[in-house]
Amino acid sequence: MSKLSIGDIYNKVHEGKKIALMTAYDYPVAKLEDMAGIDMILVGDSINTTVFGRDDTLSVTMDDMVHHAEAVSRACERAIVVGDMPFMTYQTSVRDAIVNAGRFISEAKCDAIKLEGGRNYIAQIKGIINAGIPVMGHIGLLPQSYHKYGGYKVQGKKAEVALEIIKDAIAVEKAGVFAIIVESVPENVTSLMKKYVSIPVFGIGAGSKCNGQIIVVNDILGLNFGKTPKFVKVFKDLKPIISEAISDYISEVSSAEYPTHEYEYHMNDTEKKRLEELLKKFTL
Ligand code: KIV
Repeated sequence: MSKLSIGDIYNKVHEGKKIALMTAYDYPVAKLEDMAGIDMILVGDSINTTVFGRDDTLSVTMDDMVHHAEAVSRACERAIVVGDMPFMTYQTSVRDAIVNAGRFISEAKCDAIKLEGGRNYIAQIKGIINAGIPVMGHIGLLPQSYHKYGGYKVQGKKAEVALEIIKDAIAVEKAGVFAIIVESVPENVTSLMKKYVSIPVFGIGAGSKCNGQIIVVNDILGLNFGKTPKFVKVFKDLKPIISEAISDYISEVSSAEYPTHEYEYHMNDTEKKRLEELLKKFTL
């Protein structure tokens, strides 16, 4: 399996193929996604809700992200791995943005980074790209700004807001991002946006007209204990499968059915006799 490049993604998009992206936060899931042929993996700041069980994405740290992104990168032989910049690791200054983006590349061995925001973060986007790091944009609903919106709300239902989102897409493309994620906007807004930008547009709750889709892995596997957004399709509900396996384990341990002979290590008869002799001579 050879590693995909951003150029390979562009080629697929130009051939009219759809790109499949999803999140991963650890080695085993990233390995399965990579083996299944996912094109791009985002180590999303959604880790804070999906894996750490917190209410929002705001408190995840750069150290948390690097720790998990390194495991994901190690698992991926083919997929492009993108590290997601946490809240307040790039908003504060261009310098902070470059230093923290650099950690995803040098410590976590990611191939690119993503950051939330449009026209407000052009300087940060340009600074990171000038440092040699590919940047993916993220516009529409920005989960790190949910206090500003008063919740996780679909963005761009009003024409004026939709226009601002399209302007953001144009601005981040001009700043040099290699692709844009657009989250939770009406599908016609995405279609219109695509007339104004030439880079790939990947959607999450942004309709079918995107060049590909991104999704949170826990959501499509039914491993979500919070509210499920409208756009999520549960492809396989693993909750009952995992629950059943855990209950079976508890019951077999309780009833001493597990472990049976096949799950034990065994000593040969000669060593057993020798051990008995040694114990006879052994005094405390
Ligand atoms: O953190 C995340 O999971 C995201 C989404 C775009 C999937 O940013």
